[in-house]
Amino acid sequence: IVKPDGTEKNVIGEVISRFEKKGLRVIALKMVKLTKKNAEGFYVVHKERPFYGDLTDFMSRGPVVVMVLEGDNAISKVREIMGATNPDDAAEGTIRKDYASNIEENTVHGSDSPESADFEINYFFNALEING
Ligand code: CMP
Repeated sequence: IVKPDGTEKNVIGEVISRFEKKGLRVIALKMVKLTKKNAEGFYVVHKERPFYGDLTDFMSRGPVVVMVLEGDNAISKVREIMGATNPDDAAEGTIRKDYASNIEENTVHGSDSPESADFEINYFFNALEING
């Protein structure tokens, strides 16, 4: 997901390009504006966390670009390209190092396991929209 700060910063193309250059293939893609409820459902795994309210306000503040990326070791590759959650800890050359404002407004989200990818992909896309 290119988060609302990423769409505001006008780096949708830059983010997608970084994934493509590392061999990942976009097989589904769209821009959506989440409601607060949509964001709460997406991040339900974090509902007990102190940052859940702020996070879901932020994620529903503006449009996001959701996509499915396909490729060998896609989950770990995406996480490497994104960098650490907190941009202060992110490696040079990662998306979050280059664009994130802080630990919350960190420009991108990526699934952290096959199970979360399954949930997250199905949250946004139906079978007709996935071209893998
Ligand atoms: P993301 O990878 O989308 O997963 C959960 C999100 O919560 C995270 O990126 C950040 O945008 C946000 N967040 C805000 N505060 C924290 C925190 N202290 N630790 C982890 N994630 C946080």
